Amino acid sequence: MLVIVKDSYDEMSREAARIIADRLRKKPDLVLGLATGSTPLGMYKELIRMHREEGLDFSKVTTFNLDEYVGLPPDHDQSYYYFMKENLFDHINLDPRFVHVPQGMAKDVDAFCGWYEERIRRAGGIDIQVLGIGANGHIAFNEPGSSLGSRTRIKTLTGTTRQDNARFFASMEEVPKFAITMGVGTIMDAKELLLLANKQSKANAVRTAVEGPVTASCPASIIQMHRSAFVVLDKGAASELTGLYNDTWESKIFP
Ligand code: GLP
Repeated sequence: MLVIVKDSYDEMSREAARIIADRLRKKPDLVLGLATGSTPLGMYKELIRMHREEGLDFSKVTTFNLDEYVGLPPDHDQSYYYFMKENLFDHINLDPRFVHVPQGMAKDVDAFCGWYEERIRRAGGIDIQVLGIGANGHIAFNEPGSSLGSRTRIKTLTGTTRQDNARFFASMEEVPKFAITMGVGTIMDAKELLLLANKQSKANAVRTAVEGPVTASCPASIIQMHRSAFVVLDKGAASELTGLYNDTWESKIFP
């Protein structure tokens, strides 16, 4: 696990984009796992800039998003599909045939989840998976207590997560109660992980994930078991870590 601490959100975002762009230049048909939330927005902006100004080419890339709310159609302004369209898909040259976001309106959710797993397998597996972290240590919508071996499935959202996301909806009642999410096991199968976190409000979750015991009580702590995980933080999110990490990062020839 490589923990990289940057001075600001912008620097964190640029560092993360640099890692993705490097992987993409080395493998034009990259299989890229994507995340929603406010955290990766700066990274998406930087990838869009690289596409426009440096010709970063996404035409052969396949994407898989981590999760989606159950019951929201793709054109609902709070669906994760809509979020991705607004903040990334519409601004780069992805082939829509290669874009995958779980279908919140799937009639047979279990069948859909099996199909999603199969689709990831057929694409050759995810090369690099972007992750945020919930204040309670969740990754994607794998809430505390989620099986560390879980696969894509429907999950009930906790009160904390619904409250965290309530700001985006007109009222608490409108916040969905369920989501389809890749499982912790699905995420761990990705060849590389890139977890981003910023702000002091994530410091406790980050410390628990990076330095605490590996436990289903903090699903993000499973990254300690991954053979190639990057954790890119701003100073606020890193503020409760006790270890010194940048030394190893800065002396790397290349990650
Ligand atoms: C949601 C998403 C997660 C995301 C988390 C943190 O729960 N399902 O994938 O990591 O929110 O969101 P933010 O980046 O806005 O703090």
